[in-house]
Amino acid sequence: MSPYLSRRDFLAASSAAVVATQLPAASAAATGAAPAKLALQGGEKAVKSGAGKLVRWGDPERQRLSAMIDQPSLFFYKGPQTLALIERFRQHHPLKHVMTCSSGTAALHIAVAAAGIGPGDEVITTPITDPGTIIGVLYQQGVPVFADLEADTANLSVDAVARAITPRTKAIIAVHLTGNPCDLDGLRQLADQHKLVLIEDCAQSWGAKFRGQPVGTFGHIACFSLQNSKQITCGDGGVVASNDERFGPRLARYADKGMVRESGKPFESTETLGTNYRMSEPQAAVAAAQLDRLEAIAEKRSQLGRALTEGISGLSAIVPPRVRADDRCTYWFYLFMLKPERLRCKRPEFAKALTAEGAPIAAGYIPIPIYGMPVFQRHAFFAGRWPIKEMGLTKMDYTKTTCPVSDAIIANCMRFTLHEAMSETYVREIASAIRKVAQHYTTT
Ligand SMILES: Cc1ncc(COP(=O)(O)O)c(C=O)c1O
Repeated sequence: MSPYLSRRDFLAASSAAVVATQLPAASAAATGAAPAKLALQGGEKAVKSGAGKLVRWGDPERQRLSAMIDQPSLFFYKGPQTLALIERFRQHHPLKHVMTCSSGTAALHIAVAAAGIGPGDEVITTPITDPGTIIGVLYQQGVPVFADLEADTANLSVDAVARAITPRTKAIIAVHLTGNPCDLDGLRQLADQHKLVLIEDCAQSWGAKFRGQPVGTFGHIACFSLQNSKQITCGDGGVVASNDERFGPRLARYADKGMVRESGKPFESTETLGTNYRMSEPQAAVAAAQLDRLEAIAEKRSQLGRALTEGISGLSAIVPPRVRADDRCTYWFYLFMLKPERLRCKRPEFAKALTAEGAPIAAGYIPIPIYGMPVFQRHAFFAGRWPIKEMGLTKMDYTKTTCPVSDAIIANCMRFTLHEAMSETYVREIASAIRKVAQHYTTT
């Protein structure tokens, strides 16, 4: 036998050690001793360390902003900050056509327009996401079609996507929720088989990798958000990119009023309708500096997420997120599920008990699926109307859409916002708080 432990054995051994040494409730269960009293009931808090102070920008951003102040123009076209941002983006995602833009929502709208989505074209996507995934589809007069999810990743189920394909389907938007890569092999295979455009929504997944390669490099078009809460940010911003010669050259046009700026004749070259989704130089300056931080942020978040999963594995009432062994999840936040049938309490009480333990864990992510929003239920997208439905170009009725796995995820998920300034010790204490509360409420 090898004198060295395999990674799996090491993880098993180390999590067992953690359970034995740091987790009183677990060891109590093992020894038959009384479990620790909940902090909610006056017991000692499980979380004793602080979360760490997160400093997200500093000298590198200041230096770029200061250089920018000396520029004669703050316009994106050939702007030095924009060029630096694109170059750094390409170091992480080797994609030929890269366009900076004003938000992740803009990136997705540009992608959908570049993919040629038109009136009545169906685009399959997830019901658990930010509305920004879908807004562009509607503005292009396409039809969002919601497919159900995998219960343990909250990402699109390849089988459910396959079942949702019709002769009108033109594209799939795969959202790597929380930074956990979708099954990109399965989705790409499906897209190729049915000649669909695969758009990767990487808004929550900066730094994530599928089988060792960056997300965004598997589909036809990749979309990123630089909104304030994302792993890296410039306040608001986005990037859209492609290696595909059919779509790549269109990205800049749909972000810039349809103009082909490099033609030198912006008005005469405009053959397509696009809006102004441009990113200006101040945002690009900050974003370029942030990209230099990405690898360290991604690695730390990934490591903390793994530690948390190790710490809460093996509980009968908890399902940690499943991340494939050769993938890197960068945990925009950490999503885990409760099994209500194994618990004597409801989710709000579970969350309250965690808060009392010092673990800032919220009940839920989005409160309803996207198709449950009133604007979808009423099909009231444009001044209260939906022209393509009135014209008979779609029969879609969102009051009839059902995605039971998504409903269960929405009802049972818990959300821990981790960040790169947290220590592994702190995250292990968060794990012990979850174990303690779960063990207290688990039915026998
Ligand atoms: C999955 C997903 N897609 C798209 C967006 C939209 O990005 P933005 O807020 O930059 O428009 C977000 C933002 O949270 C998101 O999480």
